[in-house]
Amino acid sequence: MEFPTTRMRRTRQTETIRRMVRESRLSIDDLIYPMFVVHGHNVKSEIKSLPGNYHLSIDRLVEECKKIHDLMIPAVLLFGLPELKDEMATEAYDPNGIIPKAIKVLKSEIPDLMVIADVCFCEYTNHGHCGILKDGYLENDLTLDLLRKSTLSYVKAGADMVAPSCMLDGMIKTMREALEEHGYHKTLIMSYAAKYASSLYNPFFRHGTQSVVAFGDKKTYQMDYANSDEAVREVAMDIAEGADIVMVKPAITYLDVVYRVKQEFGVPVAVYNVSGEYAMISCAGRQELIDADAVMMEFLTSYKRAGADLILTYFAKKVARMLNEQGVIR
Ligand code: PBG
Ligand code: ZN
Repeated sequence: MEFPTTRMRRTRQTETIRRMVRESRLSIDDLIYPMFVVHGHNVKSEIKSLPGNYHLSIDRLVEECKKIHDLMIPAVLLFGLPELKDEMATEAYDPNGIIPKAIKVLKSEIPDLMVIADVCFCEYTNHGHCGILKDGYLENDLTLDLLRKSTLSYVKAGADMVAPSCMLDGMIKTMREALEEHGYHKTLIMSYAAKYASSLYNPFFRHGTQSVVAFGDKKTYQMDYANSDEAVREVAMDIAEGADIVMVKPAITYLDVVYRVKQEFGVPVAVYNVSGEYAMISCAGRQELIDADAVMMEFLTSYKRAGADLILTYFAKKVARMLNEQGVIR
């Protein structure tokens, strides 16, 4: 296997041969599009730090989801902005809250589109933390009771999949038990299993859900970014508790974790290309410092190479349009 018998450049010489030996490929089937639903009628307002993404009232959400479905994107992930944020995150488990309402309409208008409900409380609390606080500390088991209620309100409305993002201990067990008890044997759970306390979420909580934490940070529940053994343990537990899909989040700074999880467990793995990643790429692109589309493709393909099966991304529409035009990525 020595030069010149082996010349590595032989398989790089034309686009045709490069296409033939390409190892990882992005597909529209991999994409999940995160969306933000608001109360009201005829609302479509662009989210400042996530250009090309919107706050949508249910009527406009349906219109947007029809386009998403036409682009062949298989699934959307819904985040809700409540009428009122309070200490107990009341609207998060109100059967008439924004998310159950949105799910009902979406499932009746576009039954084939998979609807995933994000299940967390930070969008609904007045302090921005992902659950109920006691003396400033997130109360794990108390919040689990509410997680149960939220989950049931979303699946009763018709959610195909639920995705808890609060990083509570026992969240998957709680949800799976609630689902089984109520006969929802087919409901999928995608766990935000290894979610890091990252600085890449700012556009999401500043402008997306408007849920900046009033004090402190999320380090007592989200993971320390220096750890990966801990991520493997989190994933193992969530699979044992009944998760169907496990997620690593954010994506670009945790590809080693994605690789380990895929190698070790061989289960469906999702990555979340988070708001900060999106903002960095789109902002540098607008300033003509980089070719944003090319960098986007390089990022997303690197997730596939690391072992991700599914990609949650605010770029989903753009990627789907590009893939529909090209058939394959270059
Ligand atoms: C909240 C939640 C966050 C994101 C998804 N769900 C923010 C956070 O935990 O602080 C981040 C998504 C993004 O940045 O795109 N549970
Ligand atoms: Zn949260």
